[in-house]
Amino acid sequence: MKAIVLYSSRTGNTKKVAEAICSVLPKGTNCVDIKNSPEDLESYDCIFMGFWIDKGTADSLAAEQIKKLHNPYIALFATLGADPESEHARKCLINAANLLPKGITSMNNFICQGAIDPKIIEMMYKMFPVGHPHGKTPENDALHKRASTHPDDIDLKNAKIFAKNVWNKICIERK
Ligand SMILES: Cc1cc2nc3c(=O)[nH]c(=O)nc-3n(C[C@H](O)[C@H](O)[C@H](O)COP(=O)(O)O)c2cc1C
Repeated sequence: MKAIVLYSSRTGNTKKVAEAICSVLPKGTNCVDIKNSPEDLESYDCIFMGFWIDKGTADSLAAEQIKKLHNPYIALFATLGADPESEHARKCLINAANLLPKGITSMNNFICQGAIDPKIIEMMYKMFPVGHPHGKTPENDALHKRASTHPDDIDLKNAKIFAKNVWNKICIERK
């Protein structure tokens, strides 16, 4: 059975998660940047598709790929700046899963926090007035500080557990 981990990552957070996922999959499974996406992607039985959250959904590079996925087994994973337990995170995953073609579903999803590019924080603080949800507040400062250490060892451990569970489920189904 052929599997692949395909990821889109602007600043490296999602790449780290992708590599953790790949490390628990069968030897020889490739971890590939979406920019080098293989031409024969549909020949894989299983794809772990990773992306970073951009304005509440999968980033555009990943989104274009998700819309075309038809592999028998698909699992989505992502990183985002917000609290991964938040309603926002839940909605982001739903939005990304909704990009899948009609009738295609993700077996399971994983999301964890990822450091936000300091340049983006600076830009947001300049762009949005105080009082705006993305403006400078002690809460937003605290959120960005919390995000800055992620993905951490616990996130990567959880990503591995997620991948192992997905893989075990596939193996049981295929028996
Ligand atoms: C343009 C832009 C938009 C973003 N939009 C969101 C968002 O809607 N929600 C969120 O929680 N994080 C958002 N983020 C934060 C990223 O999803 C987060 O930092 C992610 O871990 C980046 O992953 P990467 O290092 O793999 O590129 C945004 C970041 C950028 C640069």
